[in-house]
Amino acid sequence: MENHTMDSTMKVSSLNCIDLTNDDLHHSVVSLKQACLDCGFFYVINHGIKEEFMDDVFEQSKNFFALPVEEKMKVLRNEKHRGYTPVLDEILDPENQLHGDHKEGYYIGIEVPKDDPHRDMPFYGPNPWPDADVLPKWRETMEEYHQEALRVSKAIARLLALALDLDVDYFDRTEMLGKPIATMRLLHYQGISDPSKGIYACGAHSDYGMMTLLATDGVMGLQICKDKNAKPQKWEYVPPIKGAFIVNLGDMLERWSNGFFKSTLHRVLGNGQERYSIPFFVEPNHDCLVECLPTCTSESDLPKYPPIKCSAYLTQRYKETHAELSIYNQQT
Ligand code: OGA
Ligand code: NI
Repeated sequence: MENHTMDSTMKVSSLNCIDLTNDDLHHSVVSLKQACLDCGFFYVINHGIKEEFMDDVFEQSKNFFALPVEEKMKVLRNEKHRGYTPVLDEILDPENQLHGDHKEGYYIGIEVPKDDPHRDMPFYGPNPWPDADVLPKWRETMEEYHQEALRVSKAIARLLALALDLDVDYFDRTEMLGKPIATMRLLHYQGISDPSKGIYACGAHSDYGMMTLLATDGVMGLQICKDKNAKPQKWEYVPPIKGAFIVNLGDMLERWSNGFFKSTLHRVLGNGQERYSIPFFVEPNHDCLVECLPTCTSESDLPKYPPIKCSAYLTQRYKETHAELSIYNQQT
């Protein structure tokens, strides 16, 4: 376990900032590409989601986590990874963590009605929702945010396509982001982390999917490690910028791009203040075959990873990091 010194942990990272309203497309693509080759973390501003609406989403998130635990357990996560995840449910870095993450969460995916032919696919299906009498307008707010974040994700994916020398609409096709897996997660962190004791708000990990759009409140906590093999590892804080998303690429895009674009290790340290964040995880369609993109291979750069179906890859990754549901003795 690592030594927690001020010097190594207070370093602040400076990331490129992509302005979605910038008319100079070439500039945006160059800046994005540089960020993706370097660490895969960047800010996105002027995304069109209003600040008052964001405040509303965070307020509703707080309202949920403030409910008594019995009420929250009524919407405990199901086998489709929807719903409430209690404190310590997830363990992202078992090698360095004493026990699970000091956070609770709530997963919301794409709403697939009971009579939809695709409802049986993993990561699809109806969402559980808290009782509307207990949290009025909660579902509407979250569904609107889900839609908005997906719109922004698609705009970023178009820039990513250009940065990868692909057609601008490459990721828009049905088997990719036309019918994606996209899951938002409300998170609530509490407590003080102590890396020397293996206690983390969120253990070190890289995200599994294509990309993640992270909205946070103003509380510091997120750190990245650009070189996971360095000894000792160097962690830098990523400060929140009001109104900006912190966007990071996931392992699936690293694979897809043959390792050119980076998915970087990150974690969250708690400083005793409560902290709320909302990651939005973007993955292509279940059936999408994630195999080396045509522009990322050449005679000297043969594909490094075997092709894998998106849903198979994700299922495996979730299984590795979440507790078995049976431990909750769920009553049906
Ligand atoms: C995650 C994550 C960071 C944060 O949920 O994958 O990295 O600030 N979250 O909550
Ligand atoms: Ni993450």
